Amino acid sequence: SKGNHRHYMLKEIYEQPIVVAQTLRAYLQRMEEKVTLPIPEFDLSAIKRVTIVACGTSYYAGMVAKYWFEQFARVPVDIDVASEFRYRAPVMEDGGLMIVISQSGETADTLAALRHARSEGQTIAAVVNVPTSTMAREADLLLPTHAGPEIGVASTKAFSCQLAVLAALAANLAKAKGKLDEAEERRIVRHLAEAPASLNAALAYDESIQTMAGVIAAARDVLYLGRGTDYPLALEGALKLKEISYIHAEGYAAGEMKHGPIALIDDAVPVIVIAPSGPLFDKTVSNMQEVQARGGKVVLISDYDGIQAAGDGCIATITMPKVHPLIAPLVYAVPVQLLAYHVAVAKGTDVDQPRNLAKSVTVE
Ligand code: F6R
Repeated sequence: SKGNHRHYMLKEIYEQPIVVAQTLRAYLQRMEEKVTLPIPEFDLSAIKRVTIVACGTSYYAGMVAKYWFEQFARVPVDIDVASEFRYRAPVMEDGGLMIVISQSGETADTLAALRHARSEGQTIAAVVNVPTSTMAREADLLLPTHAGPEIGVASTKAFSCQLAVLAALAANLAKAKGKLDEAEERRIVRHLAEAPASLNAALAYDESIQTMAGVIAAARDVLYLGRGTDYPLALEGALKLKEISYIHAEGYAAGEMKHGPIALIDDAVPVIVIAPSGPLFDKTVSNMQEVQARGGKVVLISDYDGIQAAGDGCIATITMPKVHPLIAPLVYAVPVQLLAYHVAVAKGTDVDQPRNLAKSVTVE
């Protein structure tokens, strides 16, 4: 049931602290401060490269994970949407790990990619939320997200749980390949273990997000900008907004704006900038200022320090708790989801059952 919530989507957004904690319990040994896999003896040491394939929101979780696999495990990562992957003669060498990511475990294109990778001799890992699904059955390494049933068509809690699993998988792969010392492993476990509390803190800003929804609801077009792991979040923000509010939205890598999309900027286009303070902050802010110099109305999502440093001149700011960069994508998913939700409610659309969409896409 929806409990006290008006929509399943809102209920599922609010479940994230609990289901992420539940998911992490299967991948972290808190006492020993070690990362682990649901099949602890599964050997990843021979993995030489990773291919990630998924669709929609699950694909954006994979895009975030690419940064982690490269950073922690130093393995090359190829990633594509499933509907493109199969038709481009992808090169899959021996020693490759294919990771499919799917809430339903039934998405036809992703399943076909899994089977193709299997026929090319890849080891198959499946990050899925439905444990009885076809992908779960066909994988060598089943990596469940423990998000519980997701009813709202727009994926929310499945996404944050996918990120939790993928971060733990990246750390496990790094460890198996001798790229992670014990101190680093302990640090990763501690940061991941902070995610549920930080998700809770992020949810506390729900009301302030609701307050600004009216401005976004009046727009015809909305842009989302981010760098690094916030770039896939920008894509995810735009997808959430378009699918439930029917407002045209695009996500861009912040530094790519000046190569064309900045021509779209005028005072009628709200620009949502996702920029936690950290190594990429100044670069993103300078892109944000380029937007403001052209009359763009910026909503800055950052932490207290980031908003102190760059919040002047924004039409609104959303303050997130200060978090380690590893868990920032999980935490910053919350304001992005809530913003889409409140805009859709303001527009009066059918939030849980948006037009033209199905929860599970079993046609190619
Ligand atoms: C967006 C959304 C879709 C799904 C996509 C993949 O909110 O829900 O983009 O993420 O259809 O579905 P799964 O993860 O079931 O393979």
